[in-house]
Amino acid sequence: MKDNQMENSGKVEKLYTKRALTYESLYVNRLGWGKELYTFFRNYNYLKSQLKVLDAGCGTGVITRTLNKIVNELGYDELVFNAFDLTQGMLDIFQKQITEEGLNNIELARADVLNLDSLPNNWNEYDLIISSALLEYIPKEQISNALVNLKQLLKEEGKMLIFITRRNFVTNLTGKLWWKTNLFEEDKFQKILRDVGFRKIEQRNLQSRWSKYIMVFEVTK
Ligand SMILES: C[S@@+](CC[C@H](N)C(=O)[O-])C[C@H]1O[C@@H](n2cnc3c(N)ncnc32)[C@H](O)[C@@H]1O
Repeated sequence: MKDNQMENSGKVEKLYTKRALTYESLYVNRLGWGKELYTFFRNYNYLKSQLKVLDAGCGTGVITRTLNKIVNELGYDELVFNAFDLTQGMLDIFQKQITEEGLNNIELARADVLNLDSLPNNWNEYDLIISSALLEYIPKEQISNALVNLKQLLKEEGKMLIFITRRNFVTNLTGKLWWKTNLFEEDKFQKILRDVGFRKIEQRNLQSRWSKYIMVFEVTK
């Protein structure tokens, strides 16, 4: 990786190491990100038996934990969940929950989306990859590289779901200042997805006020 990429990743890791617990208690629980994801995934039919799923930039694991809960409710079996993140402190919170709840179908790894060589050899051929609030932390000029890296891990016809922050007045204040995120405009992000070479690009909707702040794209390899 180039020096400036390493420097950026180092800064992001520092930020999330400091804010790991706040992220889980404030954003996931109190502000209701976890509940919103549950509603979203119950509304859209992404899950079935025997899927292989990757949670990219999993943080404290809210995406995987939500999907795993729905899988159990619906009685599907043999789903494999892999999840990686840059920040060990976020992975530690996730791992604690995995251990406490005995969720032995979930495996974690520490990795940077810009350099996925360190992932285990069998972490590929995914039916579904989810990237939620990850690309916000990648330098703008590297976003296509991150998407190409993830696209390579999809199986033929595999799908990726991307949750990404929309630029508006509120996100300019909260996201940019407090969480130091990049913000995105719908048409410009669609162009990036097209340029990366996804065959099919569709937009999905969150159900509540979250849709003002977070866009969801479903793309097919
Ligand atoms: C806003 S949190 C999102 C966590 C989770 N996906 C969710 O929806 O709650 C952003 C996460 O992206 C991770 N991250 C940032 N840059 C990354 C990179 N280059 N590679 C992998 N993970 C990264 C951070 O460590 C942090 O855990």
